[in-house]
Amino acid sequence: MKALIERLPKVELHLHIEGTLEPELMLALAERNQIALPYKSLSAVQAAYHFEDLQSFLNLYYLGASVLVTENDFYELMSQYLSRASAQNIVHAEVMFDPQTHLQRGIGFEVFMSGFVRAIEEAKAQWGLSVYLILCFLRDQSQTAALETLTLAIPFKHQISAVGLDSAEIGHPPSKFEAAFDAARKSGYHLVAHAGEEGGPAMIEEALDVLGVERIDHGVQCIQDAALRKRLVKDQIPLTVCPLSNVKLRVFDQMAQHPILDLLAEGLCVTVNSDDPAYFGGYLTENFLALDAALGLSEKAFRQLLANGVRSSFLPEAEQARLIDQLW
Ligand code: ADE
Ligand code: ZN
Repeated sequence: MKALIERLPKVELHLHIEGTLEPELMLALAERNQIALPYKSLSAVQAAYHFEDLQSFLNLYYLGASVLVTENDFYELMSQYLSRASAQNIVHAEVMFDPQTHLQRGIGFEVFMSGFVRAIEEAKAQWGLSVYLILCFLRDQSQTAALETLTLAIPFKHQISAVGLDSAEIGHPPSKFEAAFDAARKSGYHLVAHAGEEGGPAMIEEALDVLGVERIDHGVQCIQDAALRKRLVKDQIPLTVCPLSNVKLRVFDQMAQHPILDLLAEGLCVTVNSDDPAYFGGYLTENFLALDAALGLSEKAFRQLLANGVRSSFLPEAEQARLIDQLW
């Protein structure tokens, strides 16, 4: 299985670019930009990466992102990720970014977008990698702040494929962002939202019914609701599941308890993704390897997970068909 996992072409649909900030780059950028961090060494950073829940992770994730300042910092971040992605035979990535994390530090769209797009164009030329960007609203901030972010994104609209919703889920239901998602839909963006990571099945239903999203990020809490699972099967709503993230953030105690293969067998359109790989101990290949080690991944299930990823992407149908042909 290991060779097959490494070799087959893969797509990544749930990855936060700020979550690919490896400790080495974090420390180098902190030094370069004179940003104070509570870590003195690589091992001190790694030792801090033990999380009790989503919020305890988000605190370190936002602290880490504070070292990103210049266009070149964002270029290096994206460039390092895309180089790793290509080395793992990822052929298409839909990459999330959190504008508000940077805007609130006085760093504008022109800074991070130029860095991202420069790295994306190079990766396309060098490896034929295709990359779409997903602008995420921070759900622990207000809807007004989300609408302002959407306005600031207007000059960069042609470089952004979708709008999403991330950060602390509990206490911040999807319905809080109905107007912002309506506005994003009218602007022609695809729509996704994190739901059912820590929050219950009602979060997933609201994201579908109130926001009208096309994909659910995480969605694993559908395990609590058979009627919801039936609907997800019937409508083939994609769930971008992140196994290593779920174990690191204690959604499930151990990988052996992860329900993704049961959901796949039940007919849900589940996909495997890496979320914040620099914090969770692995990129896409490592997520598949961890599933195989704990649960035993058959070739058939593996190819089905890959095919689900392709057909859940925002790629044109002809490109999806071309990629699916390469899986069998
Ligand atoms: N931002 C980055 N990673 C996240 C996650 N797993 N859930 C919610 N927001 C996030
Ligand atoms: Zn996420």
